[in-house]
Amino acid sequence: MKAFQVGLIGFGTVGTGLVRVLQEDACEIERRVGFPIRVRRIADLDTTRDRGVPLEPGVLSNDVDGLLSDPEVDLVVEVVGGYEPARTFLLRAIEAGKPVVTSNKALLAVHGEEIFAAAAKQGVDVGFEGAVGGAIPIIRAVKEGFSANIIEAVFGIVNGTANYILTRMTDDGGDFDAVLKEAQAQGLAEADPTFDVDGIDSAHKIAILANLCFGTPLRIEDVLIEGIRRIKPVDIDFARQLGHRIKLLVLAKRVGEELDVRVCPTMIPETHLISQVNGSYNAIYIKGDKADPNMLIGRGAGSLPTGSAVAADVIEIARNLRSGKGGRVPLLSYTPNARIPLRVRPHSEIVTSYYLRITVEDRPGVLSTISGIFERHSISIQTVIQKGRREKGHVPLVMLTHEAREGDIQDTLKEIDCLDVVNAPTMLIRVESGEGQM
Ligand code: HSE
Repeated sequence: MKAFQVGLIGFGTVGTGLVRVLQEDACEIERRVGFPIRVRRIADLDTTRDRGVPLEPGVLSNDVDGLLSDPEVDLVVEVVGGYEPARTFLLRAIEAGKPVVTSNKALLAVHGEEIFAAAAKQGVDVGFEGAVGGAIPIIRAVKEGFSANIIEAVFGIVNGTANYILTRMTDDGGDFDAVLKEAQAQGLAEADPTFDVDGIDSAHKIAILANLCFGTPLRIEDVLIEGIRRIKPVDIDFARQLGHRIKLLVLAKRVGEELDVRVCPTMIPETHLISQVNGSYNAIYIKGDKADPNMLIGRGAGSLPTGSAVAADVIEIARNLRSGKGGRVPLLSYTPNARIPLRVRPHSEIVTSYYLRITVEDRPGVLSTISGIFERHSISIQTVIQKGRREKGHVPLVMLTHEAREGDIQDTLKEIDCLDVVNAPTMLIRVESGEGQM
């Protein structure tokens, strides 16, 4: 049977992984699909670097226009990354009536509505399994596996770099800068780690997931985003004493007609499965009204893991097209007219528990002054830890609150941080119970 032919734009880590998967597993894939899938053209600016995969002469070039206008290309894969020219490449492919596959989360989180609208207009599919959780088939799970569930919450770890750094800080000690430097030296963190450690990459991913889970468009500007740079070894230590671990957690949950969406370092009970997800692994926990909690765990990045997710999209679209069933599943999980915008809950209205590390002078009366401020703001304290009397200087006073409104907590801290006996801005880390245990 005639081969299904792919045009690949971008021959970096993920592009190389895709080519390897399609080459190395060609027989296995053909056994499952019923026809061969092959890469017809690859376009990349760098046509000389050896990626370690054999290519027939003429396959790799820098001719994107030729690729996009080639009538023999059945599907276009974009794994260039970034906003432009990736956005233009995708829109041009869609305009030409070709289905597309991308693993570009930044692009989908920011320009997704435009891209999906263009695809819906042309009646072509968009695959984006590789955009969230690398090899973890979370997009397909949400769109198909959980299609008979009302999803109540989705949360997890979707950035391997940040998880690796926090795991190393937890297991081996060391402060953020030292662990990051080491991870960069080992090639485990990017030279510019901003998107990973500042929560931006995670925000792109939760915006995509929340969109699918709740059938709502979401603006990245509405997501509360905090990274892990400010986490200190002392906080990891206190978390441990409190029976918790600190993870860079993404979370989206429905609260009435609103959506609580955030990316932030979060304390979760060490007994929760998410706490056991270490190193560069990703995990996504979904709570459906019928299925209850489910968790998917796996490699969130890497050439072959992400390449295999991209290949799975190519396979799905090829199967659908060859059986005349393109457009079988709505691009964003819900039929376009049934997507209902949910308001993102203002950050001041978030309700959760809080870990607060207040840096205070160690002298009589301080605890009672601070407790009085909490009381005036109706914040209830669950646990207090104050250890280590220093000869002079300051000591950490740690408080774990019961559930409170974030606006009330911020007002309380404004007052506390102005006290003479308080010597540094208070560290705040949100605490989640993890939506029920599995
Ligand atoms: N840089 C990401 C991570 C993988 O560290 O998980 C690609 O999204």
